[in-house]
Amino acid sequence: MKAVAVFPARREVQLIDHPEPKIESPTQVKVRVLDVGVCGTDREIISFEYGTPPAGSDYLIIGHESLSEVVETGEKVANAKAGDLVVLTVRRPCPHAACIACRSGRQDFCYTGDFTERGIKQRHGFMTEFVVEEESYVNVVPRELRDVAVLVEPLTIAEKSLAQLRAVQHRLPWDGRGHRNAVVLGAGPVGLLGAMALRIAGFEVTVYSRSNQHAEKDDIVSAMGARYIAAETHSVDEMAQAVGAIDVVYEAVGASGLAFDVIKHLGPNGVFIFTGVPGRKGPIEVDTDYIMRDVVLNNQVILGSVNAPPESFQAAIGDLGAFMQKWPDAVHSLITARFPMDQATKPLAPGAGGIKNVITVST
Ligand code: BGC
Ligand code: ZN
Repeated sequence: MKAVAVFPARREVQLIDHPEPKIESPTQVKVRVLDVGVCGTDREIISFEYGTPPAGSDYLIIGHESLSEVVETGEKVANAKAGDLVVLTVRRPCPHAACIACRSGRQDFCYTGDFTERGIKQRHGFMTEFVVEEESYVNVVPRELRDVAVLVEPLTIAEKSLAQLRAVQHRLPWDGRGHRNAVVLGAGPVGLLGAMALRIAGFEVTVYSRSNQHAEKDDIVSAMGARYIAAETHSVDEMAQAVGAIDVVYEAVGASGLAFDVIKHLGPNGVFIFTGVPGRKGPIEVDTDYIMRDVVLNNQVILGSVNAPPESFQAAIGDLGAFMQKWPDAVHSLITARFPMDQATKPLAPGAGGIKNVITVST
């Protein structure tokens, strides 16, 4: 079968022929891949900055944001059947008995670092025609989300972050109620989907972003009842002035300088959530005394969040349905363009533009 793979040693990305997988245990599901979304992680992998092939393979099949259709199930599979639309989770547990996170099915919190990730770390991904997977990593999606369900995985980043936020704010006897002023940094897919999730969760949302597509992004942000502020025309101070006390920052840009400028404006008991993975661009000047002083005097929390457990996939599927009820045009406009597999590197090229580009593997 066809697959898109990166060969790190040869520094090549190619459409390859890869053996079609077969169901090998009664708890496995075989799926036909329909859509695969591409993101910054894929861009890093095809630039050979990130990503590791499986042991014994000189290539890694890329793709971790997917939508598939079940074609076959092992006899013990109970929660998915042929014809179901499904989204697969990304991370698989490490093998160590002492890793309580992985042993509890929460490899998103793996202690050892020996987890694997589909399409990223030591496990082939989804940019291929067929995939076989254990049932526990398969999440069924309603048919009516067919066109947009490839957005589930990038939305899980926000869903896990929101679950973390709820856990953190549980420290306040009122669970943070009455303080729902959120700022989203970045208007890429992770930022815009995060803004939608925050809106559904009852937050006032301001999206602060640098972009060359302000009009388009402003439309999407306005449609969800949020405010858009352009970083080119408004300084961080001006943005913070307009927002007032910030209760939550959801960072989705991977630009550390901007993030640390915004930390200074976090309000009392505020939570700053990092989701971006910045490239190493060298040291910058940050007023650490000011930040440390404020974090202490304001009971603030700065937290990082990566990957997502099955419950965040369930939350994402539910929320995506809610977004489609409320803002169908805005959700559709998050998907910029679709490309066939033999043009998979096009949307991954530097400066490709758009919000979410999708590879159509089959229809
Ligand atoms: C994926 C996560 C993954 C992370 C780090 C992200 O693009 O969405 O599932 O854990 O990259 O590899
Ligand atoms: Zn991704």
